[in-house]
Amino acid sequence: MHDNLTNLGLDALDVVNLRVGGGDDGHSAVPGTIAEQFAVLAQLQKEGLIKHLGISTVSAEQVAEAQSIAPVVCVQNFYNLARRDDDDLIGSLAAQGIAYVPYFPLGGFTPLQSGELTSVATRLGAAPMGVALAWLLHRAPNILLIPGTSSLAHLRENVTGAALSLSPEDLAELDRIGS
Ligand SMILES: NC(=O)c1ccc[n+]([C@@H]2O[C@H](COP(=O)([O-])OP(=O)(O)OC[C@H]3O[C@@H](n4cnc5c(N)ncnc54)[C@H](OP(=O)(O)O)[C@@H]3O)[C@@H](O)[C@H]2O)c1
Repeated sequence: MHDNLTNLGLDALDVVNLRVGGGDDGHSAVPGTIAEQFAVLAQLQKEGLIKHLGISTVSAEQVAEAQSIAPVVCVQNFYNLARRDDDDLIGSLAAQGIAYVPYFPLGGFTPLQSGELTSVATRLGAAPMGVALAWLLHRAPNILLIPGTSSLAHLRENVTGAALSLSPEDLAELDRIGS
């Protein structure tokens, strides 16, 4: 923590996520209390070293447990067109004004591939990954995207995707991927 502040030349970090779970695939929530770990971050927040707290790879129960200790501003879990475990959690966080950051929004190390995605993208004249990001942005108002790329061409496709408008028919077709 102090190393981070020194290296970044900051007095306080804007937001710090407690990364919790793992499981068989390394990216699933694992049941159990997170109170002790989250209380450490809450203490650093009280000391003024962290402005806001988030949590990552957690269940709805663990979000609630964290909220009983200190306010949570964001939750970062594995979620995308094909991985829909957090559908209910996203809604409940949206109602509370808490940001949801889907990680591996494009599938991460296993990039998203699907006939429906290609079909909608072709219809819209857009790149499939841009459509996958557009779907996430249409999914809920509290979605905050941090897609990764090492390619300028992909970056352009992805930024273009943010401005795409998906029709109810497009959304219904894309929704079938994860169901
Ligand atoms: N909290 C956690 O435990 C956790 C875990 C994982 C990730 N994250 C965070 O989540 C964010 C995203 O993760 P990520 O970058 O690993 O996964 P991602 O955004 O789902 O996928 C990145 C992959 O998609 C490819 N890609 C990107 N744009 C593309 C396009 N337009 N067409 C085709 N392929 C495209 C990239 O390849 P190219 O480089 O060739 O474009 C790269 O292989 C990061 O900020 C990361 O730090 C958090």
